[in-house]
Amino acid sequence: MTEPKAATQFQNQIVHGPSPAPSTGSEPALGLPRGQALGFPVDARTGAKLKHVVESQQFTVPLLMELFERSRGMERVVARGGTLDYHSRIMATLFYAPSMRTRFSFEAAMLRLGGRVLSTEQAGAFSSEIKAEQVEDTIRIIAGYCDVIVIRHNTADGARRAAQVSAVPVINAGDGNGGQHPTQALLDLYTIYRERPINGLSVAIIGELDKGRTARSLAYLLAKFERVKIFFVSPPELQMKPDILEYLEEHDVRYELESDLERVIGEVDVVYQTRILPDRLHNANRGSLHRYALDSAMVQRMKPDALILHPLPRTAELDKSVDGDPRALYFRQARNGLFVRMALLTMLLEEN
Ligand code: CP
Repeated sequence: MTEPKAATQFQNQIVHGPSPAPSTGSEPALGLPRGQALGFPVDARTGAKLKHVVESQQFTVPLLMELFERSRGMERVVARGGTLDYHSRIMATLFYAPSMRTRFSFEAAMLRLGGRVLSTEQAGAFSSEIKAEQVEDTIRIIAGYCDVIVIRHNTADGARRAAQVSAVPVINAGDGNGGQHPTQALLDLYTIYRERPINGLSVAIIGELDKGRTARSLAYLLAKFERVKIFFVSPPELQMKPDILEYLEEHDVRYELESDLERVIGEVDVVYQTRILPDRLHNANRGSLHRYALDSAMVQRMKPDALILHPLPRTAELDKSVDGDPRALYFRQARNGLFVRMALLTMLLEEN
């Protein structure tokens, strides 16, 4: 039940932040004492402060519950047109890989909080990294211009490297192929939480799971809860990687590896569908793509109160004929991204 040593060391760093620089006697920007100018949320159970959001494992159940309560509050804030409370705060979004939902929802979140946004959607092309500057230097510079950085890097350790040098909170907006996408998993879990208790759920996570950063991050979050069972449904060559499976075993979370959705569709409470690109299947298996797809016939076999989620964008694995099903929550799920990201920003930015 223990974390690997390297992971624990990094976790300490991303929870508590880098060791403070020796005092120069000067106050940081905004004229507030250090730690108040950039306050961080406190985990009610451990008292630990959350400085950066790099991976799902950082979150504890009390911290998730605090986030979800705030997210409910943000639904009300948005309903009345937003707030100006964060008018003095600036968020930089630095995207090295394409995004529509994540970038827009973070930017909308900051704008609804009254803050301002600096943005580059092609950071690889429009930053000095095209001149071989390292992401560490880019982050050191940008951290001097803003209060929080949202980064989607194209390598699996890009956000971690950014967090290790940043003076302001860094949020991982999805990194690499086979990395993590923790804020997507937070909004996925919030969408489930809005519907029912998470303890005791059985969840099918479907798709190309070896590189599925949303699936990986969600598995880590689900592992925080009691009596959860996860079915990983994927072509064998694209199954969930051992790092996640070992984590689940260490934390006594039940899971099964499955290669046929039909065998589990009728017994799960949540169907979390993700993309499968046909190119990633072995030639011999291309014709089996339908075994992992949801269409109106497949959803008829689901429990009447099951939930259908998908992080989007979708391809052939989620047929449009499912959209009208009352169990299909994926557009609401995308909308929830706004509330959860607003809540997360307030937790990272507010004074404590
Ligand atoms: N779900 C998600 O991460 O979508 P984007 O790639 O559009 O941000």
